[in-house]
Amino acid sequence: MRQPSTLMITGFCLLLGAAAGLADSRSSAYPDVEVGPRFDASGQLLLPQGYRRWVFIGAPLTPHGLNGGEAGFPEFHNVYVEPAAYDHYLEHGVWPEGTMMVKELQLTQPGTFPDGSRIEASGRGYFPGVTNGMDVSVKDSKRFADTRGWGFFNFGHHAAPYAEAAAEAPVDACAGCHMASAHEDMVFTGFYSLLEPVPERHSAMRPLR
Ligand code: HEC
Repeated sequence: MRQPSTLMITGFCLLLGAAAGLADSRSSAYPDVEVGPRFDASGQLLLPQGYRRWVFIGAPLTPHGLNGGEAGFPEFHNVYVEPAAYDHYLEHGVWPEGTMMVKELQLTQPGTFPDGSRIEASGRGYFPGVTNGMDVSVKDSKRFADTRGWGFFNFGHHAAPYAEAAAEAPVDACAGCHMASAHEDMVFTGFYSLLEPVPERHSAMRPLR
């Protein structure tokens, strides 16, 4: 059998290289994430797609029953991070440009006690019900230089479908509170144990009470 010529092998390798290039969805603006933020011509953030398959890092809960019946966000706050950004954070301890975090709100099942809790087979407590809104944070140090490199977006506080695009929220609606209170780089890192494998980093974090 004839041996393949060097030319054939080179051609094959070039083809493979081109295919790999096409498959790589990383954009030059955000080389360290797989799925980066997309903005329309007016600068609105397009609703992130596929986020329920991202890394689910936690679900803080501030129910009505513990907030005088008037919690601003009585739902579970389900927080997802884009997987490549998550990997980058674990490896380097910093969120790369283009990081997206989604906080999808999920109501509790209707309560049977005054504090909104109910009893299920596992005990008395709060149990996830229907989804009810979506907030997104995006790291882009240039675009959001005025708010410590992160932009904040609300796609609606209601059941899906959410808005297809959202304008950056005013500072006092979102970024201001993250600037004042977040643990590390505008993120409430301390609530998400999945971000913990690099313990020495956390010495700089605000102690949790
Ligand atoms: C008064 C303070 C405050 C305001 C205002 C606020 N947040 Fe947050 N945000 C928090 C806290 C505290 C957490 C973590 C604990 C929780 O979810 O209860 C959080 C978590 C998040 C997370 C998950 C990642 C992280 O940083 O922990 C996103 C995304 C987020 N907020 C987006 C928004 C958006 C978008 C707005 C405006 C529509 C907003 N936030 C307004 C306090 C605030």
